[in-house]
Amino acid sequence: MSFPIQRPRRLRRNDTIRRMVRETELSVKDFIYPMFVCPGTGVRQEIEAMPGQYRLSLDEMKRELESLVKLGVPSVMFFGLPESKDLLATGAYAEDGIVARALREAKAEFPDLYLVPDVCLCEYTSHGHCGVIHDGDVDNDETLKLIAKTALAYAGAGADMVAPSDMMDGRVAAIREALDRTGYSQVPIMAYSAKYASGFYGPFREAADSAPQFGDRRGYQMDPANAREALREVRLDLEEGADIVMVKPALSYLDVIRQVRDQVDVPVAAYNVSGEYSMVKAAAHNGWIDERRLTMEILTSIKRAGADLILTYHAPDAARWLKEEQG
Ligand code: PBG
Repeated sequence: MSFPIQRPRRLRRNDTIRRMVRETELSVKDFIYPMFVCPGTGVRQEIEAMPGQYRLSLDEMKRELESLVKLGVPSVMFFGLPESKDLLATGAYAEDGIVARALREAKAEFPDLYLVPDVCLCEYTSHGHCGVIHDGDVDNDETLKLIAKTALAYAGAGADMVAPSDMMDGRVAAIREALDRTGYSQVPIMAYSAKYASGFYGPFREAADSAPQFGDRRGYQMDPANAREALREVRLDLEEGADIVMVKPALSYLDVIRQVRDQVDVPVAAYNVSGEYSMVKAAAHNGWIDERRLTMEILTSIKRAGADLILTYHAPDAARWLKEEQG
């Protein structure tokens, strides 16, 4: 039976029925908001390529957290800009490192805000790679020790969950073992499992000052052409003890999000990355698109593809818009 018996437009006739049959519902509870924390006081430095995003000193960070809590955003991710960088990424795991300090201060003032530090070394190494360099290449197994050490430092500082983004082999197992050995068996791991070597990270590298000083990250991040390999990475991370798996970036990889969602029974996160954010901002700035409409469409599509959690720089705006829609 088809037309004229079937008329799909009947269920699109007004907003009430459209809402009633809507399949995907975006919620503020889906969001994790990534933030950049830096030393100093009174620092609120806008990131040129990411209008509306800032490098924040810890006092300014707390003001920002207060407004996020008011908006109902449940969780934030921290990236750090250290005082100084070195070959061994000391700033990542130092007890008074910038992210450890941010975690302590945030946890003390906002105990219910769910804190998820990104665990990686690239913001802290002088060469900008995600690990220790030996003979011109990132040494996987040496890097694991420092990654685990960083995760431990963050757990000790009050992280609710840790999120390794370095793409070294075996990092989930290394972190799980280190956490369990030191009394943090309750701290979950959200693994950046399918993290692609992507041009969409461009603005982030300006924000976090983490561009590699030689070569690129294709030796450890995934080839954008591969989807089966993403499923393999996800399976390995789950075998190593990941609690949540992530696909990153989101928009050019919606097919990967869907395939991962269909294959696993853990929550799936997707990272709506810096370049995806900046493109919307740039087009909106030029008056070429409707920012609010595009943003909500993008976030809805990520959820429709199968993501349970969305890491997004749009989180505060989207939270505001969702509130308005609810009236
Ligand atoms: C650290 C890391 C990166 C991002 C998240 N964690 C940068 C990279 O891998 O080069 C990118 C986030 C974004 O673009 O918003 N390894």
